[in-house]
Amino acid sequence: MTQDELKKAAAWAALEFVQENTIVGVGTGSTVNHFIDALGTIKDTIAGAVSSSEASTERLKTLGIEVFELNNVDKLDIYIDGADEINAHNEMIKGGGAALTREKIVAAVAKQFVCIVDDTKIVDTLGEFPLPVEVIPMARSYVARELLKLGADPVYRQGVVTDNGNVIIDVHNLKINDAKQLETQINQIVGVVTNGLFAQRGADKVIIGTQNGPQIK
Ligand code: 5RP
Repeated sequence: MTQDELKKAAAWAALEFVQENTIVGVGTGSTVNHFIDALGTIKDTIAGAVSSSEASTERLKTLGIEVFELNNVDKLDIYIDGADEINAHNEMIKGGGAALTREKIVAAVAKQFVCIVDDTKIVDTLGEFPLPVEVIPMARSYVARELLKLGADPVYRQGVVTDNGNVIIDVHNLKINDAKQLETQINQIVGVVTNGLFAQRGADKVIIGTQNGPQIK
């Protein structure tokens, strides 16, 4: 199977976590696009979705799935999203698609976070994938200088504006031994909206697309 077929297998397996008549939290990315397609096949059994990006909202609406504002939803049983890297503690790097802030907000509200990945996303140590940091535009240079002090290499993601009107700095060459601590440390830099470490709120379940079929852990 190709990597995309592994993503698709993980995404479709996530349907078993979706309860009837509930609102489903939906992430962003190519793996989630497969999940949205899967959700479309059971759209008449769910109440609708809360989305983490304009791109996912558009795909959900195209399939006829009602999208609710998060502010109008008092509880969310489940959030389903992909990841760029995930370790054995279910801590993740996310934000390859620049949707990290809204993803983190929806994940914070949800009772259960189900992460859907192909097996290339499983790592021993987070940080090979550059860590995305969403930054208020006027703070870009300041935040980059502060990130340099971590001994890492911040790179401005040219031409990308997030759904919130901000910019992304990708932090290369981080060896992340304490993801929870680093998540807090980077978020304390003035001008940072949030960073793509999902460690304090990690995944509760992971569905991994493998050559032997989807594995749930
Ligand atoms: C978007 C994300 C995605 O979940 C992450 O980038 C994985 O994407 P894909 O499923 O396309 O590999 O965090 O901001």
